[in-house]
Amino acid sequence: MLGMISFSLNLSPVSAALKHGQITPTELCQKCLSLIKKTKFLNAYITVSEEVALKQAEESEKRYKQGQSLGDLDGIPVAVKDNFSTSGIETTCASNMLKGYIPPYNATVVQKLLDQGALLMGKTNLDEFAMGSGSTDGVFGAVKNPWSYSKQHREKRPLNWLIAGGSSGGSAAAVAALTSISPAPFFKIFISFSFVGVLRHGLTEYLVPELSGEVRSLWSQAADLFESQGAKVIEVSLPHTLYSIVCYHVLCTSEVASNMARFDGLQYGHRSAISVSTEAMYAATRREGFNDVVRGRILSGNFFLLKENYENYFIKAQKVRRLIVNDFLNVFNSGVDVLLTPTTLSEAVPYAEFIKEDNRTRSAQDDIFTQAVNMAGLPAVSIPVALSKQGLPVGLQLIGRAFCDQQLLTIAKWFEKQVQFPIIQLQEFMDDYSSVLDNQKLTSVSLQQ
Ligand SMILES: *[C@@H]1O[C@H](CO)[C@@H](O)[C@H](O)[C@H]1NC(C)=O
Ligand SMILES: *[C@@H]1O[C@H](CO)[C@@H](O)[C@H](O)[C@H]1NC(C)=O
Ligand SMILES: *[C@@H]1O[C@H](CO)[C@@H](O)[C@H](O)[C@H]1NC(C)=O
Repeated sequence: MLGMISFSLNLSPVSAALKHGQITPTELCQKCLSLIKKTKFLNAYITVSEEVALKQAEESEKRYKQGQSLGDLDGIPVAVKDNFSTSGIETTCASNMLKGYIPPYNATVVQKLLDQGALLMGKTNLDEFAMGSGSTDGVFGAVKNPWSYSKQHREKRPLNWLIAGGSSGGSAAAVAALTSISPAPFFKIFISFSFVGVLRHGLTEYLVPELSGEVRSLWSQAADLFESQGAKVIEVSLPHTLYSIVCYHVLCTSEVASNMARFDGLQYGHRSAISVSTEAMYAATRREGFNDVVRGRILSGNFFLLKENYENYFIKAQKVRRLIVNDFLNVFNSGVDVLLTPTTLSEAVPYAEFIKEDNRTRSAQDDIFTQAVNMAGLPAVSIPVALSKQGLPVGLQLIGRAFCDQQLLTIAKWFEKQVQFPIIQLQEFMDDYSSVLDNQKLTSVSLQQ
């Protein structure tokens, strides 16, 4: 459910190249637009805002020329998930309900990016209303994982295409395919930090039977790495996180039920042609507008919120949530600075395998490590660490104390540097892919890491 983002197009060298005039915002923007077109088959973008981006690039270029750049993000291409409002640009939430909807305002995060001079390349694909765990269930179809087409994976095992995971798979694919940097709240922090020394790291005992051997061994290698660099690694216990998925199910669906009530066909969004009565119009609108996953959550949520169920489900789940929060608090209060866990049970799976499982099992499995953090309101970051035997990325997750985002990102940055995760190699499988990147100043600035 939460947006997992990996960083491939390294921001700070690109930003430096813009500052030194080695590349102009327009050139950079055109390169990204061209890559977006070449990687269209990934289905990463729902909308590409080419005109807006080029216009923003032109303005950015003017600023650079006049020595009035707005900062490190000026001229940097970004993309945002299509559940964030963008004024004048269609915002669909990958749902029939909002197809064709053009918001009158920008979401705060979007506006902040634009105020810093970022270029909006487009809106990225997702599960309908961000409900899902594969980025396979949006109305515009599944996102394809760019690593399915990488040299690294194809050499090992040319399987069918793989899912991107998600719900923010479009953003992840857009970044992995070097078409943008996306979504950006973390970047600024990433640029300026250096490692300042970390005393202790905790290693949560998140060993579950389904955890793949490769992920497990990578996890322990990472712990060794921290230890060898002077951190103290201990195993800790978070006993109530076992109940996190169930608890999340009750709370999330209750919120969904209440949040989605506004889509009634009257004010905005889709309206059914069925109009025999107001009630029939409501019902038909919502049946036509929402997919099974969304409707299922609305149904469960309304059930949990019924007067006779409220105490037994909603209130109880809130109490369990408090226990989960306390588990983390206890661990952090015992002197642990950061927790290291797997991000997912295994590497990305082929689409054909993923869709065999029913939707609820899938999201329960895939969210197992990332869930509790959201219930506890803690900052966390997933870092691609190594390629598996099949040549696919495997990530690990770092979880920090509440409001200690900077400390967390500092550690993440250090860890990222140590692991030297390889750049995706897509050249062989996409005509011209290399010609876009090769011979261009961008290659030297973005791919040298
Ligand atoms: C979009 O989805 C993400 C989950 O991936 C969520 O954190 C965010 O709040 C959603 N945005 C909006 C505006 O609902
Ligand atoms: C809102 O975002 C759009 C799309 O990027 C942009 O064109 C517009 O200028 C933004 N609005 C404001 C007030 O900046
Ligand atoms: C999962 O949900 C999607 C979207 O509603 C639906 O198309 C698909 O058939 C569901 N899959 C299963 C196995 O139930």
